Amino acid sequence: MSATTIQSVHAREIFDSRGRPTVEVEISCSGARAGRAMVPSGASTGQFEALELRDGDFNRLDGFGVRKAVSHVNGEVTQALIGLDANDQSAVDRRMRELDGTPNLSRLGANAVLGVSLACAYATAEAKGISAVEQFRDVWQRTTSPTAASPASKVSTSKRHPQVGQQPLLPLPMVNMISGGLHAGRNLDFQDYLIIPVGATSYPQAFDWIVTVYRRLGQQLTKAGFEGVLVGDEGGYGPKLTSNEQALEFIIRAIEASGLTPGQDVGIALDVASTHFYRDGSYQLAATGAARLSADDVIELLASWVDRYPIISIEDGLAEEDWSGWQRLTQRLGDRVQLIGDDLFVTNVARLRRGIESGVGNSVLIKLNQIGTLSDTLAAMRLAFDHGYAPVVSARSGETEDTTIADLVVATGAGQLKVGSVARSERLSKYNQLLRLAENPAYGYIGGAVFG
Ligand code: PGA
Ligand code: ZN
Repeated sequence: MSATTIQSVHAREIFDSRGRPTVEVEISCSGARAGRAMVPSGASTGQFEALELRDGDFNRLDGFGVRKAVSHVNGEVTQALIGLDANDQSAVDRRMRELDGTPNLSRLGANAVLGVSLACAYATAEAKGISAVEQFRDVWQRTTSPTAASPASKVSTSKRHPQVGQQPLLPLPMVNMISGGLHAGRNLDFQDYLIIPVGATSYPQAFDWIVTVYRRLGQQLTKAGFEGVLVGDEGGYGPKLTSNEQALEFIIRAIEASGLTPGQDVGIALDVASTHFYRDGSYQLAATGAARLSADDVIELLASWVDRYPIISIEDGLAEEDWSGWQRLTQRLGDRVQLIGDDLFVTNVARLRRGIESGVGNSVLIKLNQIGTLSDTLAAMRLAFDHGYAPVVSARSGETEDTTIADLVVATGAGQLKVGSVARSERLSKYNQLLRLAENPAYGYIGGAVFG
């Protein structure tokens, strides 16, 4: 028995930032303190994501309970893992995949499996007496590239900063200011209007700028009569604006009111989350003007905004099934804008490989619970780096105080993190963890240079 042999596994049901049940797992190795992880949950989920197992018992918590997932962990998963080496992350994750036996972890539940997978890394860190970042880094360095995509990516890797994916790095944050779509009562069609402080020279400075812009934005929305706007699921403001463009105008003004220059100091990003208004082959805007748009109409609309606003990143500009539209979007904007696939790629090596082979997107959102294990998440990141796709590590709209994504983004040197806004403590737990990590001189910061 080694110091990292798994000795006990225990799961329980806890609650996330929307007051919905989720899974927490604790694992301990050979007498060391337990490592713990909590599982997040999306609202605007893609149909190709791994399955989040809910009890479906409508007599309790509207069917959202996760007691089945918890019992899977405390029963067969525990039996299968006791005695395994927790330091061998890929063996642990493989063992759970074999036990589950489905491609999308639908039998045990991806929420059950991910909780165990992450708690395993934290337990190993405890047993080895190292930080979570160091353990994630160790696993990352052992992650080999999944079979490469072919033919070679059409995306140039030459623009990539040499430290990305190589050195541990504090991330450039991409932060939600205004929420729409499924995260804020469908007040706007597009889901997130975000800022990226590209001109900041350190993570703490980047964060100061973000908080200042957020406060100025709140003051301006109030002054313009949007009083009492509640914040959305990720802490962004949820005003009932009359157009998507009005959101961009407010953000530009808030950046200026903070004494910063739009574009130069602070860029703008969008998460269109267009899968959620894609119906019967067209993009059906409801909240802002009731229009039915083709993929090419959406591409033209986005291109016209890129010409007029300092937009440097667009996520899910088109829907998860619209591969041909995505190809045209990438041809049109891929050399000027980071085009992130979220619902499109779902942190899935097979879907990302298809995207690389067909010249679709140039960036991938990384959400651990879309695929269900740490090993599979890191494999997707490795494939992305090897083909010049920028991985953006992301939270879900339902979160907890768990700080895994902050530790993971630093360990892998991915360079970018998307967590949500700067109100609500399930978001701040990640940002605050990064402020702690920023005190470690071993962790670099390349900021906006991640865009090349
Ligand atoms: P979700 O939203 O967690 O509700 O999927 C986040 C996103 O779309 O990026
Ligand atoms: Zn998204």
